[in-house]
Amino acid sequence: MEKIAQKFEKDVIRRDVQWLTASRESSVSFTPLHALDGIITPNGLCFERHHAGIAEIDPNDYRLIIHGLVDKPLIFTLDDLKRLPRVNRIHFLECAANTGMEWRGAQLNGCQYTHGMIHTVQYTGVPLKLLLEQAGVKPAGKWLLVEGGDASGLNRSVPLDKALDDCMIAYRQNGEMLRPEQGYPVRLVVPGWQGNMWVKWLRRIEVGDQPWYSREETSKYTDLMENGKARKFTFVMDAKSVITSPSPQAPVKQKGFQVISGLAWSGRGKVTRVDVSFDGGRNWRPARLDGPVLDKCCVRFYAEAEWNGEPWLLQSRAMDDTGYVQPSKDDLRKIRGVNSIYHNNGIQTWALKTNGEVENVEVG
Ligand code: MTE
Repeated sequence: MEKIAQKFEKDVIRRDVQWLTASRESSVSFTPLHALDGIITPNGLCFERHHAGIAEIDPNDYRLIIHGLVDKPLIFTLDDLKRLPRVNRIHFLECAANTGMEWRGAQLNGCQYTHGMIHTVQYTGVPLKLLLEQAGVKPAGKWLLVEGGDASGLNRSVPLDKALDDCMIAYRQNGEMLRPEQGYPVRLVVPGWQGNMWVKWLRRIEVGDQPWYSREETSKYTDLMENGKARKFTFVMDAKSVITSPSPQAPVKQKGFQVISGLAWSGRGKVTRVDVSFDGGRNWRPARLDGPVLDKCCVRFYAEAEWNGEPWLLQSRAMDDTGYVQPSKDDLRKIRGVNSIYHNNGIQTWALKTNGEVENVEVG
């Protein structure tokens, strides 16, 4: 069976952008969005972003420590975590740098590369709230430092309110134990917030009274504005969408009936509506949302259309339940300039050519 899949589906793999990737261990690989449907990303196809390789942690030796401004510092083994009441939640994880290479113009020919730093997974684990309640956060405790057990010791500050609201200590993805590259055996889930905060190989949570201003939240993962000042803490990933098919890696093969398919998401809540345009944003029509529409989760949309071989400028535009509408790239740049790497949620344009090929372009 595996051989058949290897023969006919062998191109459905994570890929690197060669000029960006020194080695996959200390870099990034991209989810093949153009080859997927529905909302769940199969485990072996989830993009990976490692700051210093994949840590190898024996689950029997795994420990999670909670300390700082708590009544009772605690250490949990993996078995301790598995004995606690558990929940299942489906969420997207988007790297803040997703689409980051497109700030100055269309660069990469494929939604795998322009938008593939996202995956949507069902996580099984323990609400972080439960662990914090067991430790007893002191009244002065307002922030958490969350730290990974990899060589980068990646650490971030998370506001206590968010931790108590919906953060999870996850040990399973899509049913099986986390993959090593996703933080085996335990990672933090921070629904709707930038992927960098979803610490993998989570080993330490310290409760404090203010943010730590660690490297990853000061020199990195902040937005450098036109005037040279950087925004402090852009945690939430705003509403965004992309047409995954047709797209440069999924060209149109024949004229006639076409299923336009894509993904939309919002870190602020639920996607309420997606519009698609065939003429670069002059006219819009509502797409059909199909499958589950969940909080801080990807939703699948479809729009059916006849293609007679004329050029199309395909776009999608997401809206969420806060009333937010995904901006055009021009509107985004008016506010943000082009110094940023992070948080580019501008509307993507694909040019469908008369021969069925699709190209990454911008319309001005
Ligand atoms: N956690 C640790 N410990 N080390 C890391 O390098 N990378 C972060 C985050 N958590 C990272 C980490 C970044 S930048 C992102 S975008 C996500 O993990 C990527 O998660 P993934 O590899 O499951 O796609």
